[in-house]
Amino acid sequence: MKKYFLLAIIGLSVFYKGFAEEGMWLPQLLQSMNEKDMKRMGMKINASDIYNINRGSLKDAIVSFGGFCTAEVISDKGLLLTNHHCGFDAIQTHSSLQNNYIKNGFWAYNNGQELKNEGLFATFIVRIEDVTKAVLSGLRDDLSEKERQGLIDKNMAALKQMVKKESYQDILIRSFFEANKYYLFVTETYRDVRLVGAPPSSIGNYGKDTDNWMWPRHTGDFSMFRIYAGKNNKPAAYSPDNVPYQPKRSLQISLDGVKEGDFTMVFGFPGRTNEYLHSSAIEQTVRVNDPAKVGIRTKALQVIDGFMRSDETIGIQYAKKYANISNAWKKWQGEILGLTKSNAVQKRKEMEDGFEKIVLSKPELNVAYVGLLNNLKTAYDKIEPYGFARDYFSEITSKIEILGFANQLKAVVNAYEKNGEAGYAEAKTKAIKRLEDDYGDYSVAVDKKLFEVLMDMYVADQKDNYVSPFFKSLLKQNNNNYAKTADAVFSQSKVYDSKKLQTLLTGSAKDVTEAITNDMAYQLILDMQETFSKEVAGNLNALQAEINQLQRIYMKAQMDVFTKKAFYPDANSTLRVTYGNVKDYQPRDGVKYEFQSYMEGVMEKYVPGDYEFDLPKKMIDLYNKKDFGRWGVNGRQPVCFIAANHTTGGNSGSPALDAYGNLVGLNFDRVWEGTMSDINYDPSICRNIMVDIRYVMFIVDKYAEAKNLIAEMKFVSKKTKK
Ligand code: ARG
Ligand code: GLU
Repeated sequence: MKKYFLLAIIGLSVFYKGFAEEGMWLPQLLQSMNEKDMKRMGMKINASDIYNINRGSLKDAIVSFGGFCTAEVISDKGLLLTNHHCGFDAIQTHSSLQNNYIKNGFWAYNNGQELKNEGLFATFIVRIEDVTKAVLSGLRDDLSEKERQGLIDKNMAALKQMVKKESYQDILIRSFFEANKYYLFVTETYRDVRLVGAPPSSIGNYGKDTDNWMWPRHTGDFSMFRIYAGKNNKPAAYSPDNVPYQPKRSLQISLDGVKEGDFTMVFGFPGRTNEYLHSSAIEQTVRVNDPAKVGIRTKALQVIDGFMRSDETIGIQYAKKYANISNAWKKWQGEILGLTKSNAVQKRKEMEDGFEKIVLSKPELNVAYVGLLNNLKTAYDKIEPYGFARDYFSEITSKIEILGFANQLKAVVNAYEKNGEAGYAEAKTKAIKRLEDDYGDYSVAVDKKLFEVLMDMYVADQKDNYVSPFFKSLLKQNNNNYAKTADAVFSQSKVYDSKKLQTLLTGSAKDVTEAITNDMAYQLILDMQETFSKEVAGNLNALQAEINQLQRIYMKAQMDVFTKKAFYPDANSTLRVTYGNVKDYQPRDGVKYEFQSYMEGVMEKYVPGDYEFDLPKKMIDLYNKKDFGRWGVNGRQPVCFIAANHTTGGNSGSPALDAYGNLVGLNFDRVWEGTMSDINYDPSICRNIMVDIRYVMFIVDKYAEAKNLIAEMKFVSKKTKK
């Protein structure tokens, strides 16, 4: 018995070696899986200081911010820190020409000045439980996929009824490891979250699209909010009587900065990764899907950029749309580059060869998994044309806005058909509100040009049977001229303009729904959707279901075959910890990037009056006087730094913590060469980018002079550390 125990320990220590840097780990499993490794890499606290359900731990300072970003509590009065680009919607909503908080920044110098934000929320994770057994109970191998999912849904519903929770808490069950495991989350969501501070976007988004996904970086990408609670400190709807939330735990802020090799961890809500794909899926991403999406966006961005440069109003209207389209566009290009440069497909194939060898060598594995890799390859080969069509359809129909506007009116027509006059009236009010909102930053000229250019790609690059017959005949009527076809559609549609919409929606419910159905943009989007669902969606969905099933088996197979490897589940917007060391990197031969940037670099990039690289005068003055206060070191102000932490979209706003669990940075991006980490993490070039917390504090203290905020935070440095 003792001997086996010893063997198990030896086995485990092999298991623990060398899986540093890559991985988005489950906080409740750190103690059993990662603690040793984390300490080896320099961590000075225990796993139980990070996740503990019996007393306050670091996890009690981390929230999902609105479901799309991460934020952390940095004072015992519920002060939240997140990115500028995460708080942007809130900042924009409160902005007007008189009070342009995007341009000038916003600071509340007392609680009374803080601004409420409808719809914004902050969710804490109270505890996490493994419920795999209960969720999968009763499953048999002979069930079809549909029966299997039906049973799982039933089990999950029953579980939600049974689990003990307080009335103000919620329960969430999520699948992990491609649906081989299930965890349950008890959460607490606060819905009174107020805006406290944001720097001008010339600081918070310094370098904009040019610097996005790039190192070296000089952006102060942060904003501050505050959680308010009812008098009992529990979640409560917005009320002027609410009080600042008292957290179980808030983060202390380190004044010490980081050195090369220092331990760091990033705690947050990463959105989506695909780390366990078959090599043919990676190959397809590089050769087919990423280039398709990049190609469409390249054209769309050219169109928008042309208008933005020649028309100032369009420049303002399209700034956010341009940034959104360009963000993923740039990331996918980095992904292609990184996957190619790192030979990701070849490496994955070598891993698969190893997998196959072990499977063939063991009868029990052989029975379960022989042929699996082949089946995966066949399924990916089959899905390729449908995947391409899906990317084309979704990219094009989301960039040509008139199609999206028309699509919104479907709800009105459907409501009338289903629920008569009453349903109609409600749906109409909703649609008008949404459309009027969208018209605020819409230009017909831009959209017409987008229509012309992108519909050309829709026809030219796709198999004929994937193209809407309605569009084909329109095109023919207009001598195959896309500009003329665009004119025709826009002149016979009323969905893209406030006045026209009013005309379209005036009359009896019956007349209006009929008019909508006859609108040309409406007819076009409906026919495009119909063509897509007839020619593509059926096959696409069936193949995707098959791939999901095969990937589920393959995930389990990898765990059964590589028994010494520690596996982490793909990101799925649940709370994770990732850790690594502060590290420079070499993007290409002969070039080395330092891990830290300074304010000298901010000044080097400064271009007065520029759209991307302008600076507020006060920042320049502070720099010239070297007035950095206690936030500078040896007369220099640190700005950003990089480390090898495995992060992805959704980790924006996540805290970067040092070996003691103190706040040293705020995560906001990754380096371009490493964006492939969503599919293939490579420690030699994958780095996350963080704002140095001392730059954040310099801006709050010296630039904004928000002494009220500095006063409520707690700072530590080596002198005060044990
Ligand atoms: N690339 C970062 C992310 O994926 C930052 C995006 C916001 N900044 C920008 N310049 N668009 O969210
Ligand atoms: N900027 C990203 C976000 O908003 C984080 C960067 C990344 O994708 O790693 O979540």
